[in-house]
Amino acid sequence: MISLKIISGTDRPNSYALRVSKYVQEKYRQQGVSAEIIDLQNFPLDQVVGGKYGEELPAVDNFMEQAVIADGLVVVCPEYNGGYPGILKLFIDYLPFPNSLDKKPIALIGEANGAFGAMRAVEQLQQVFGYRNAHIFPERVFISRVNKNFDDEDGIKNEFQQQLLEAQINGFPEFVKNLQGDESLITDG
Ligand SMILES: Cc1cc2nc3c(=O)[nH]c(=O)nc-3n(C[C@H](O)[C@H](O)[C@H](O)COP(=O)(O)O)c2cc1C
Repeated sequence: MISLKIISGTDRPNSYALRVSKYVQEKYRQQGVSAEIIDLQNFPLDQVVGGKYGEELPAVDNFMEQAVIADGLVVVCPEYNGGYPGILKLFIDYLPFPNSLDKKPIALIGEANGAFGAMRAVEQLQQVFGYRNAHIFPERVFISRVNKNFDDEDGIKNEFQQQLLEAQINGFPEFVKNLQGDESLITDG
């Protein structure tokens, strides 16, 4: 049985990122896939003030460990100023290098009030995760006008976007399992 983690990609209180993450988590639960949420509101920011890269930081290491041990990651990412939120980059920069993302399967969901559903932010993330040798699931989802277009119970009101979201949720576990079946494609740490 695979175990996924959903990263809610902002520390903004009451974010759509967290609401979408909870919706997606329930959808995975319905198909018997464990998918806990890593809420970046809980990132131990106070521990990294001043730049503590490469230092032993138990609270940070424990927080990161949730992502490190996951078989696959689902990143729910809003768009802030045409990019992904700073807290998400900080999170990535404190993930152990290189093994934590090396050959890690990652699915991407963008959400924003704008017309393109955080496409810019998601494509920037693809560049970073690509640099870190992750396996990006090709079926990305962009939730545009999220403030009008998303319902906590029913998901995305736009039927086509909802179909894409469901296709990602149905397809990603198989993608993760297939990668696990080919040992040359999976990480060792
Ligand atoms: C700092 C900041 C910058 C933002 N920049 C953008 C943007 O570039 N494009 C966009 O469509 N929405 C932008 N938004 C609005 C978000 O799309 C909106 O907050 C939406 O609810 C998704 O973010 P959330 O997960 O924080 O709720 C911005 C919001 C914040 C807080």
